[in-house]
Amino acid sequence: MSEPSVVVLTGAGISAESGLPTFRDKDGLWEGQRVEDVACPEAFARDPERVQRFYNLRRAALDTVEPNAAHQALARLQQAWPGRVTLITQNVDDLHERAGSTEVIHMHGELRKALCTHCGNRMIWLDDLHGSTLCPACGRRRGLRPDIVWFGEIPYHMERIDEAVGAAGIFTAIGTSGLVYPASGLVHLAKSAGARTLEINNTQTQVSGCFDRHLIGPATVQVPRWVEELIG
Ligand code: APR
Repeated sequence: MSEPSVVVLTGAGISAESGLPTFRDKDGLWEGQRVEDVACPEAFARDPERVQRFYNLRRAALDTVEPNAAHQALARLQQAWPGRVTLITQNVDDLHERAGSTEVIHMHGELRKALCTHCGNRMIWLDDLHGSTLCPACGRRRGLRPDIVWFGEIPYHMERIDEAVGAAGIFTAIGTSGLVYPASGLVHLAKSAGARTLEINNTQTQVSGCFDRHLIGPATVQVPRWVEELIG
């Protein structure tokens, strides 16, 4: 029999020990900032510079952090597991890629990419963005925005995600509060496909009851432990 397909869903908790704040923990990004002011299309229409400032700071913070043992363990799993491993992340950082993961599905977009609302082009973007920044593709100003899925927008790659989760033998959610749909619903899809479900988090969450098994503790400890269990 072939090895079961593994699907991993990660959230902000996996990058916390690298030094990136989560959203809903104490001192999280949504503690000092209202979602409505920085993370929805209406906020960008109302005050684009404020939104750009928020994401410019977060993009710049990526230069100061490194992947941790949890990101590295998942990259090892992708290399060593004889079956399929699909890594889906809600994170907009690039720590999975920097740890060596080659295929990462960024359902909420990426900080290091910009999207032009005039011409629809997406491009790698490492610097700050401002209203006056010219789009290198169409040459127009006031169109570039962070390539981030905001509240009220549709997450990326949903077809691919649903297909992978619907075929999962093992589904593991790591460092996510499970409060944001549709990511929060994937565990149900996995269960209906017959997958064994595991939650790795440093605490119980409001959705812990949906999972068959739990590993409670810091991602840098629990993820390498789980990967060792799988690949030995
Ligand atoms: N190890 C394991 N889990 C951790 C750690 C850690 N070191 N630190 C925090 N956590 C857990 C918290 O207990 C919490 O359940 O990570 C989770 C982080 O939850 P959120 O801050 O809600 O982040 P996330 O689930 O990724 O948010 C989903 O919400 O605002 C949006 O678009 C944003 O992608 C984000 C989405």
